[in-house]
Amino acid sequence: MRLSTTREVSYDVEVVNLTGNHFQRLRDLLESRRSTLITTPSVDHLLGESIRRSLEGVDFEYHVIQLSEKQKNLQTVQSLCARTSGLERTSVVVAVGGGVCTDLVSMTAAVVRRGLECIRVPTTLIGQVDAGIGLKCGVNYEGLKSRIGLFHPPINVLVDPTILRTLPLEHISYGLAEIIKIAIVTDEELFYQLDEHLEDLLQSRFQNPHHEAANIVRRSIALMLEQLGQNPFEMEGYQRLVDFGHTFSPLIESEAGFSIHHGNAVALDMALSSAIGALRGTISWKEVERIYRLLHRAGLPLDCPYLTPELCVRAIANAEAHRGGCANLVVPQKIGAGVFLNNGLDRQHMQNGLARMGEIVRGIAP
Ligand SMILES: NC(=O)c1ccc[n+]([C@@H]2O[C@H](COP(=O)([O-])OP(=O)(O)OC[C@H]3O[C@@H](n4cnc5c(N)ncnc54)[C@H](O)[C@@H]3O)[C@@H](O)[C@H]2O)c1
Ligand SMILES: [Zn+2]
Repeated sequence: MRLSTTREVSYDVEVVNLTGNHFQRLRDLLESRRSTLITTPSVDHLLGESIRRSLEGVDFEYHVIQLSEKQKNLQTVQSLCARTSGLERTSVVVAVGGGVCTDLVSMTAAVVRRGLECIRVPTTLIGQVDAGIGLKCGVNYEGLKSRIGLFHPPINVLVDPTILRTLPLEHISYGLAEIIKIAIVTDEELFYQLDEHLEDLLQSRFQNPHHEAANIVRRSIALMLEQLGQNPFEMEGYQRLVDFGHTFSPLIESEAGFSIHHGNAVALDMALSSAIGALRGTISWKEVERIYRLLHRAGLPLDCPYLTPELCVRAIANAEAHRGGCANLVVPQKIGAGVFLNNGLDRQHMQNGLARMGEIVRGIAP
């Protein structure tokens, strides 16, 4: 006897002007379904009134809850579950906020009544190009980054880049880290587009140059979805180009007690992974330097006391446990393409990588 089934997933990530038409698109998606919307205080302050007004007449509850990386755990999921007691199986949960909010709310939606549909409205750059648009969500567990999580694809994602204009500058940098990641391993042209407009994009919080900024957000989303679509539930193997920057970074975040932002940790990881790639001859040192310069201009860090050979060795072991027995360390092959390394990733190699990383950094950011 056998039960056999497949799960089909499809959802749209729509780039829309939500604030311009008072969240009408969200209203259309909710129709008459009972729903709960969860957001954070700063986002409520900026968008709350407009959202509530647009959803007048819709059967919805509105909750404003402080959610930060340090509270990204199962206890918070449990407390969010308490906000869903009025929901039915056909209800919708809406997350409006940064990556912490969309991760926590998606986790909650996934477990309440064994899975309620979820709509995400990411309001940070990292959320709009990465955290808010994928199939996965997760929380930290016993001090370990994203150790507990699941796949719970949204039914819809609404992205409005004009929402980014109020974002603190460092959060634009964090989002840039994920955009630079996808550019380095999949799209040379995107990298050069960033290279050309970086300061304007950063200072204008992705509002200018208008055409290029919108284009970069759309392109990053399209590239991310293309990568995720190839292996949506990670059942087709453990080699994922989007893991570039995500081998050493989880331990950097955990080791720092989550005082280092995900975007900064990803940047440090990309810098080290690129140096390791160059040591192995996958990419030229000239291109590695170009990567470092872009990260530096984006306001991202290139050195960190937590990034030691010991941490790297543990990170490689963790990656092996997570990726089917192989580290699958993603390193650039050139700007625009990535490859996977599995052999020789020992302490000495990590030390050499860190030493070369330090030399380049001293050359460009003394
Ligand atoms: N699930 C995934 O696939 C995935 C991918 C990448 C990152 N992540 C996760 O995302 C998290 C980081 O997300 P984040 O950087 O968005 O952090 P965050 O969710 O903490 O948001 C940052 C802060 O900015 C505020 N904010 C949000 N939007 C704003 C706006 N438009 N204007 C002003 N302030 C605003 C928030 O209230 C919050 O205080 C990490 O926990 C990371 O692990 C998840
Ligand atoms: Zn990430």
